[in-house]
Amino acid sequence: MRRNKATITPLALVVLAGSLTGCWGNRSEEPPVHIIWNMDFQARWDAQEKTDMFEDGRIMRAPVEGTVARGFLKEDDLLWRGRGFDGRLADELPASIELDAELLERGRERYDIYCSPCHDHSGRGQGPTTLRGGGFKVAPANLHQERLLPMPLGYFYEIITEGKMPNMLPYAAQIPVEDRWAIAVWVRALQIYGKDKDWAGAVVAADASDAPDPSGAVAPAANKEGSR
Ligand code: HEC
Repeated sequence: MRRNKATITPLALVVLAGSLTGCWGNRSEEPPVHIIWNMDFQARWDAQEKTDMFEDGRIMRAPVEGTVARGFLKEDDLLWRGRGFDGRLADELPASIELDAELLERGRERYDIYCSPCHDHSGRGQGPTTLRGGGFKVAPANLHQERLLPMPLGYFYEIITEGKMPNMLPYAAQIPVEDRWAIAVWVRALQIYGKDKDWAGAVVAADASDAPDPSGAVAPAANKEGSR
């Protein structure tokens, strides 16, 4: 189609005029024209808003006392707190954790990562941090000391979870619950069978059924001396 000058010129003028006036700072305090509303305006409260509805003026309500978020019930005292029904530290594994070679291997690995810098691989408290000064007011404990040998598994779980303040910080944030149990079992294994890392490796490699039972406190007589 052929366009003639007479139609194009007025059109161009209108566009030019519109764009000039439109951008010329016509400020307005009014909200912009809202042609399609959708659900943009609703009768509702937003987070942090003020209200007269409640005495304290807050629209956000605190959960009812004792509320537990889904998945955070932590019902199993043994698993989460290392304690039995009587509230005492337990010397057994939670039902959900099975004692097998895998658990021992996991415990060894996690212990070596998180504990050995201070307590050393064998648990005698001679880790590199200790040996290089470390600035400890109280030196990292020798886990083979007489006092700690009869301690229940739950005790080691608790120490990992809560630390021994102020000298050993808690490891609850770094080590998940199942791993804490694995480490507790490994500490018990070290205590019973001594610092012999070859032995430790052998236990891990062995079939679970052949592996010595570190949750039972009875140590073979031959290893007893070496473990103290
Ligand atoms: C940064 C160094 C450090 C690390 C890492 C560390 N500990 Fe300790 N731990 C200490 C010190 C220091 C003490 C002595 C605390 C005291 O007696 O006040 C101690 C004490 C202990 C005790 C003895 C508690 C008692 O009754 O006297 C146990 C058991 C223990 N640690 C286990 C662990 C385990 C398991 C890990 C790994 C998850 C670990 N520690 C990691 C420094 C450390």
